[in-house]
Amino acid sequence: MAELQKDPITRSDFLGFGVMGAIVGAILTIPPAAFVLSPVIKTDLLGESDVGSGWVEVASVSEVSAEEPSHFKVEFPLEQVYGERAIQKKYPGSQKSDMKYKLDNAIWLSWKAPIKQQGRQGSTGDIVGKPERPAFLDQKSEGFTESERKEIMSRLNVLSNSCAHLGCPVRWFPHEQLFLCPCHGGMYDINGGWVGGPPPRGMYRYTEAEVRENGKLYVRHKYDIEPGLDKQQPYVV
Ligand code: FES
Repeated sequence: MAELQKDPITRSDFLGFGVMGAIVGAILTIPPAAFVLSPVIKTDLLGESDVGSGWVEVASVSEVSAEEPSHFKVEFPLEQVYGERAIQKKYPGSQKSDMKYKLDNAIWLSWKAPIKQQGRQGSTGDIVGKPERPAFLDQKSEGFTESERKEIMSRLNVLSNSCAHLGCPVRWFPHEQLFLCPCHGGMYDINGGWVGGPPPRGMYRYTEAEVRENGKLYVRHKYDIEPGLDKQQPYVV
C-alpha cells in the first residue's frame, strides 16, 4: 500500500507565514499612512495647528467704528513644514528656524448690537438693534482700568473673516447692514449671527482675545469650533 505522503507545510507553518506576512505588511503600510494622515491627526485628534499660538496685535479698540464693523489685517506666525524642502533648494543652508512664514488673515471687530428678537438658526436670523460702544471710549483710547477692559471685551465681537460655510472672505455691506459672502450668498448680522444662506452657523469668533492697558486688542489663533456639525477647522485661518 502506498504510504500517505506527508503535507510539506504544517498548520503551524501556515499560521507562522500568515503572522509574518501581517508584520511585513504593517511595516510597509504604517509609515506612509502615518505620513499622509499626520495633518488630520494633528488638527482633528490632537487639536494642534501649524499656526503659532502666541498673542498677535490687531488694533486699538478706539479705531473700531461705533456704527459698523471694522476690518483689520493680522499676521499669525506659521510653522509650515511642507515648503521646507523647496526653500532649502532655493536657499541652500537655511535652517528651519530662519524660515519665517506669516499667515495673513483679517478680523472683523464690531460692537455688539442687542438682540431684540431671537431668531432660529436655519430659518430666521436674530433681529438686532444698534451697536453699543462703551461711552468712555469718547474720552480716552488707552490707560484702561481692569473693569473698563472687561466692559470692552464684553461688548466687542471679534470675528474671523472666513465664512463658516467654505471659508470665503466675507464683506460688510452697509446698505444691507449685513456681512455677505460672495461665494454662495451666506449672510450674517453685525454680531456675526447667522441670517441666511448655506453656512451652518454664525461667523467664527476668536475665543482668546484681550484688550490691554494700552488700548490695543490682542488675539490668539483660537476659534469657537464646536463639536458635531461644524467640527471642521475654519478653511481660511
Ligand atoms: Fe460663504 Fe459658501 S463660502 S456661503
